[in-house]
Order: sequence, then structure tokens, then C-alpha cells
Amino acid sequence: MDYQKILEEIHQEVLPLVDKGKVADYIPELANVDRNKFGIYLLTLDDNAYAVGDVLEKFSIQSISKVFMLALTISHLGEKVYDRVDVEPSGDPFNSLVQLEHESGIPRNPFINSGALVITDMMISSFADPRAEFLEYVRDLVGQADVFCNKKVAASEKEHGFKNAAMVNLMKSFGNIENDVDEVLDLYFEFCSIEMTCSELARAFRVFANHGRGVIDTKKYITESQFKRITAIMQTCGFYDEAGEFAFRVGLPGKSGVGGGIAAILPDKYSIVTWSPGLNKKGNSLAGMKALELFTTKTGTSIF
Ligand code: DON
Repeated sequence: MDYQKILEEIHQEVLPLVDKGKVADYIPELANVDRNKFGIYLLTLDDNAYAVGDVLEKFSIQSISKVFMLALTISHLGEKVYDRVDVEPSGDPFNSLVQLEHESGIPRNPFINSGALVITDMMISSFADPRAEFLEYVRDLVGQADVFCNKKVAASEKEHGFKNAAMVNLMKSFGNIENDVDEVLDLYFEFCSIEMTCSELARAFRVFANHGRGVIDTKKYITESQFKRITAIMQTCGFYDEAGEFAFRVGLPGKSGVGGGIAAILPDKYSIVTWSPGLNKKGNSLAGMKALELFTTKTGTSIF
């Protein structure tokens, strides 16, 4: 299959959509990003890469970071993580508070904000230096040292992060947050502010496509059972109240972020990352989702 030609065709087909989405201006620092940026990076398990567009430019990975947070925490704490966070799709926006009170402060899944905030709390309780631990983990997955948080983006989110603050406080009232509320929020905003390129994200996600084993160094990051579960959560919860739509149109486990990135995998075959900052109403990249739909359709590759 001529993947490069297919990516080039897709690029042309989605170009009209690139400036139709809306950048995530609820984090003011992200409102400055040029919404005309667009890139797709495909990386196969047999180490072939295909790319179009702005694939070497760093962007804010935002909620894509939640996959790394979950993987690191689960590899340390194992299944008891799921005592404090459920694994059901929420059917609600990523920052919704409505289910949290009904469900006694137990978030629906680790990929909505409340779930990732509980995971952050677990990381603070488990690691002497969770910041350093997390960065080292992500750098290891990428195979590269220059992966950093953007402190300006984290500070900008903190200034306006009232809903996230409400979630942590509500969960604390139910006894599902062990640490100081501000400490949890600060660390969560930093984890979301990590910047990576499409190519770096594809390298990190290829480890998940390879059942949690490094492709170059063959290091085992998560067990086979943890791989199965994390991939299932990506499939059912990776796109919030658009998880069904993503499965319907694209058919790959993946994760989006309000920075406009989407990372997805076809286990045993490839990882694929798109970046286009314009978002649809559900907070997922408009052109990115279309590009992935075209990719799995044209190549006949999806998990279904
Ligand atoms: O907490 C927030 O709202 C952001 N730091 C992350 C949200 C996000 O990326 C949702 N994904 N589409």
C-alpha cells in the first residue's frame, strides 16, 4: 500500500476543513496557536514512517497526556487504580461535573478531567517526585530527552481552571482525593501542558500499538493485561461524548486533546497522529478526525 500517496490525498481533502474549527480559547495561551497548522504522521511497527504537513512542530498535547498518566500509574499500582476511578464511557463532555455527585466522587473513567485528576492524586501519593517521574516516563516512551511542560500554558490554564478546581474539591469532599487540592491541580495542568510533535507522539504511541513493549529497546512498559485494558479505555472513552462517533467513523483506539492532537493505534500494525488546532463542538480536532476517518477507510485498516 502506498501510504505516502494516501496521506497526501487526505491532506488535500481535509484542507477546506482546517480553518473551520475553533481553537481552545478557554486556555488563553492556546488561543494564540495558528489554526491553519495541520499534520499527519504514520509510524508502522516495522519502522516505516510516512508524513505530511507540520509534523515536526511541538504543540500542547493536553488530554493525550492522560494516556501516559494512566499507563505510568497502573504500572506502579496495578489494578487497585480502578477502585478510585471507573472504566465506563461518560457520554458527557470532558469537564462535566454532573455525574460526579451522583456517583459519590468516583469519576466515570481516567480520561475525563475528574478521572485524570484522581490519577494525578495517586501519582503524588506514590512518587517522591511525580513531575520528574512523569517526564522521564514520557521521554523514555518517545526515546528522546527534549520533552518539556510549557509553564506558560499550565499557568494560563490554572488562572481559568475553575471547573477542574470544582471537581477536585467535590472529589475531596467524598474522600477520593488524598493530597492538597492546589497541589493536584498544579501538577495536572503541568502534565496537560506537555508539548510534543506528531512524530514524537507517534513514537510514544507505537509502544502501545506494540502491546506496551518498546519497539527499539523492547522494554516492557505495561503488562499484556494492562495493555488490553488501556486500549479498551482509549476505544470507549478516548473522545468523551464523541467516543461512539470516533469508533463509528474511524474505528481505532485513540485519545484526543484540546491542543488539536489525536493519537490512535492499530495494535500490531501502526500508530498514527494528527494535529489540527481547530476543534469541533465536542472539543476534538475537526480536520484531524476527518483525516483519520479517510485514512482507515482508504487503507481498509481499523480494529473492526
Ligand atoms: O483540563 C482541561 O480542560 C485540559 N487541560 C485538557 C482537556 C482536553 O484536552 C480535552 N480533550 N479533548
